[in-house]
Amino acid sequence: MQNLEATLQAALTFYQAGDDHTTELVCCQILESHPDYEPALNLLGKIRHHSIQQQLSAANAGLAYHLWYYNQQVWTTTTWAGVKALKSPCDLWNYQEIIFELKPSLILEFGTYSGGATLFFASLLDQMSYDSKILSIDIDHHLMDESLRHNPRIELMLCSSISPQVSQRISQLRQEFPGSVFAILDSNHEKNHVFQEMLLLRSLLNKGDYLIVEDGNINGHPVLPEWGEGPYEAIEQYVSLYPNDYELDRKREDKFGFTFAPKGFLIRC
Ligand SMILES: C[S@@+](CC[C@H](N)C(=O)[O-])C[C@H]1O[C@@H](n2cnc3c(N)ncnc32)[C@H](O)[C@@H]1O
Repeated sequence: MQNLEATLQAALTFYQAGDDHTTELVCCQILESHPDYEPALNLLGKIRHHSIQQQLSAANAGLAYHLWYYNQQVWTTTTWAGVKALKSPCDLWNYQEIIFELKPSLILEFGTYSGGATLFFASLLDQMSYDSKILSIDIDHHLMDESLRHNPRIELMLCSSISPQVSQRISQLRQEFPGSVFAILDSNHEKNHVFQEMLLLRSLLNKGDYLIVEDGNINGHPVLPEWGEGPYEAIEQYVSLYPNDYELDRKREDKFGFTFAPKGFLIRC
């Protein structure tokens, strides 16, 4: 008993010094021989409580930053090489990591806008220096940076992302640039449009290809709660119809603490 009390005292000393890890180890050691020893159980409870609080405050930090970055419109002024890229820098960094792992020979971008993200993807492919291409599609080129037209890696299409010529061109490009594909949906964010884009890609993406569905954060996930059904709901509808098409890459999604693409990091199965 004396030994037990001395061990508990040691655990308390570690606890008071803020060393939760060692306290936990010592408590577990006590409980191995005395599973009902209340002082050790109480101490363990305090440590668990502390650790859960830390986890919650980390999750809140991501949420608070997400709301600040979005609601202050910082994303509308974010640029790559001087050209607007309407994204979160954390997502762009995540895409960079995915692209370097995947080494796609073809990047598909639905929604060019100014083209900062398109140029960002082109720079990444330049770093990897092999034969690869970006197909970027938009219905409007008025705000697009002219430099995109002179970049040999970038092919532009001026049409709706769900039109038949898009799937035809993707099929041709897959033949010309065999290898994996990184696709990103960032055009019209209405649920039905995004769902149609996912359907269009259904027969065009192969096992291991990567699909990002951007801006599922709107409609209250957590921004713009009044927006109406968007990409997040499109993903849910698609997954309920075709549950075996994609694996959700939660590790990537969670990596930087917040993303504009919740549930939108998808690996084709
Ligand atoms: C959110 S912006 C794209 C942002 C861009 N990807 C970026 O990261 O900076 C949406 C773009 O989608 C385009 N768009 C809207 N409806 C479309 C459609 N049906 N097909 C293709 N693009 C469309 C808009 O013209 C607009 O340029």
